[in-house]
Amino acid sequence: MAIINVSHPTGSYPIYLESGALANTGQHLAQLGYRGRCAIVTNQTVGPLHAEPLLASLREAGFEPIRLDLLDGEQFKTLETVAGLYPRLVAAKLDRRSPVIALGGGVVGDMAGFVAASYLRGVPFVQIPTTLLAMVDASVGGKTGVDLPQGKNLVGAFKQPEMVVMDPDVLGTLPEVEFRAGLAEVVKHGIIDAPALFAALEQGDYDLTWLLDEAVRVKVRVVQADPFEQGRRAVLNLGHTFGHAFEQLSRFELRHGEGVAIGLACAARLATRLGHCSGATTERIISLLDQLQLPFTPPAYPFADMWAAMFSDKKRQGNTVRFILPRAIGDVDIFNEVTEADVRAILDKK
Ligand SMILES: NC(=O)c1ccc[n+]([C@@H]2O[C@H](COP(=O)([O-])OP(=O)(O)OC[C@H]3O[C@@H](n4cnc5c(N)ncnc54)[C@H](O)[C@@H]3O)[C@@H](O)[C@H]2O)c1
Ligand SMILES: [Zn+2]
Repeated sequence: MAIINVSHPTGSYPIYLESGALANTGQHLAQLGYRGRCAIVTNQTVGPLHAEPLLASLREAGFEPIRLDLLDGEQFKTLETVAGLYPRLVAAKLDRRSPVIALGGGVVGDMAGFVAASYLRGVPFVQIPTTLLAMVDASVGGKTGVDLPQGKNLVGAFKQPEMVVMDPDVLGTLPEVEFRAGLAEVVKHGIIDAPALFAALEQGDYDLTWLLDEAVRVKVRVVQADPFEQGRRAVLNLGHTFGHAFEQLSRFELRHGEGVAIGLACAARLATRLGHCSGATTERIISLLDQLQLPFTPPAYPFADMWAAMFSDKKRQGNTVRFILPRAIGDVDIFNEVTEADVRAILDKK
């Protein structure tokens, strides 16, 4: 079993990464000194598929778990949903030592984490991510929260988990489109800081546990270096300024991972145009996206709309849009001064 240790400003926590890890959750949690009542927050899709072995493992280790199934979907990642959870925690007599355990994708993790950060001013939190995206991205780094009608992730808190349990086996039930969307973030992590991961994806020959390990470690290295998102952590937004704009303009018909895939291709082309990255590297990125059946061609929206969508992005600083651009596979940087003309050239070319 791989145990990846993550340090943060107030301590550290383990990520247990292993096939079958879900069934060892109770034991791991007991080893951390927890006992008694706990709550599993999951949803109506994931609960029926994966809650049973988790409940059994918790009971076996002496816990008294309750299970709360939320409605499935980003549209339910709201304050209303979160508000509905607190009374159920009170009714089940969860106290300040009672862990809240997220079992699900990023949507469940973000809400359960926010509940754990706020119920009784904070209770222990455990992440059990069940999508590829949540494993390699959302479950590590301590960001939690909900959406407002005005925009995504506008309310939230930093909440570090006590532990993260990653069981590659749970990905067996994940729909292929979701898996592929998660692969876009894995490609992103390869470009940011893991050339071997990128190369393994190109070869198409890798072990899933190894892939998760490599991809998670990139996120861990970046968030450890910048836990409160004040500088270097911005590199995780590679492809996202473009990607968010495409997602938004498609009225979210494009999945996040698909937007990111096109965004990675755009960032690479922009980097080559500006002389930061070789044309050959950009070709490698685009070929890999193609091979993984991810999109890489920008949609044909009017440039003004795409530019406006990028400018409304909260990652904007001053009068320029900040771009994270690759220099090579495994090396990216933050560029603040990119002109509108350069971006237009990338998006109009197709
Ligand atoms: N906190 C962070 O740092 C961070 C980072 C990235 C993304 N996010 C958030 O994560 C969310 C997206 O997460 P996501 O892509 O995991 O989406 P998601 O949580 O909506 O999951 C996608 C779909 O897969 C289903 N599902 C999950 N696991 C399954 C499994 N093992 N088998 C079958 N079905 C399964 C879900 O029920 C859902 O229908 C967004 O809200 C985003 O804002 C947060
Ligand atoms: Zn993303």
